[in-house]
Amino acid sequence: MKKSILSLSLGTLLLSQVSWAIPLVIAHRGASGYLPEHTMESTTLAFAMGADFIEQDVVISKDGVPVVLHDIHLDTVTNVADKFPLRKREDGRYYALDFTLAELKSLTVHERSDLDGKQIFQQRYQGTAQFTIATFEEQIELITQLNRQFDKNIGFYSEIKSPAWHLEQGVDISKIVLATLRKHDLDDANKAIYVQCFDYAELKRVRNDLGAKVKLIQLLGENDWGESATDYDVLRTPAKLKELATVVQGIGPWIPQLVDMQTMQPTGLVKNAHAVGLDIHPYTFRQDALPEGVTKQQVLDLLFKDLKVDGLFTDFTDTVVDYLHD
Ligand code: G3P
Ligand code: CA
Repeated sequence: MKKSILSLSLGTLLLSQVSWAIPLVIAHRGASGYLPEHTMESTTLAFAMGADFIEQDVVISKDGVPVVLHDIHLDTVTNVADKFPLRKREDGRYYALDFTLAELKSLTVHERSDLDGKQIFQQRYQGTAQFTIATFEEQIELITQLNRQFDKNIGFYSEIKSPAWHLEQGVDISKIVLATLRKHDLDDANKAIYVQCFDYAELKRVRNDLGAKVKLIQLLGENDWGESATDYDVLRTPAKLKELATVVQGIGPWIPQLVDMQTMQPTGLVKNAHAVGLDIHPYTFRQDALPEGVTKQQVLDLLFKDLKVDGLFTDFTDTVVDYLHD
């Protein structure tokens, strides 16, 4: 009995240490503030900068290969329109799902632009090097190998992108992502990996029907973004957060859902989510896109000191690592 009391005390101590741990730095699309997003180079730089987790947004190729791209479209980050001008759909867009892996690999990846070719973040990478699209497995291997060589345990933070759209197109992206994780022994709640998705119905399916063991994160957007059929206004209510906590381990809201941007007062979402045991990993800290008159120090103080979030997606891993570890 004494032993179990001792274990409980130690366990409680350990748990409290976990809950007081330094928040996680999540490299959003790798070191995307410096190099074209989601490339192997961007992932490598994020690793070197000291990220705790590195993000992979995943979509599927025509031949069923999971590849690391933020969008189902290719237009804004590759030269697809120059290389395959006849392969756009009726809506004028080029879809990763319409290209084989070999074709995707023949494209070059550039810094994100709008549909007119204008770079979104003007001060970011301006070079012309031949970056390429990486597969999900290439990124898993890269991080695994770097972990081995540097004796680290930097984690994966993988997003199932547009599962309903993929299913409409006849592709079960969640099954493919889970099969890939299982192949690499990563469908494991005790490993350094999270799987995230905007689609609540799909996350319930991933957990309950597909039997995922991995830690899950429910991303929260705004209903008018059209990310999924999920009602994010309802999902943010205390009752729904309680239900959510039976499926996922945390939420990924965008920063304005945590604080009223007019009054700078907390919205209550952090408090309500923590009350039901959910971690909070908001997105996205971008020091080159701060609101007028706001400094990066103010944003980081607000998130970490006032709101006490548990992690942060950032395009600038180095800045957040310096803030948390200095
Ligand atoms: O996944 C967290 C954050 O990346 C969500 O937004 O659109 O950049 O994938 P998005
Ligand atoms: Ca993402």
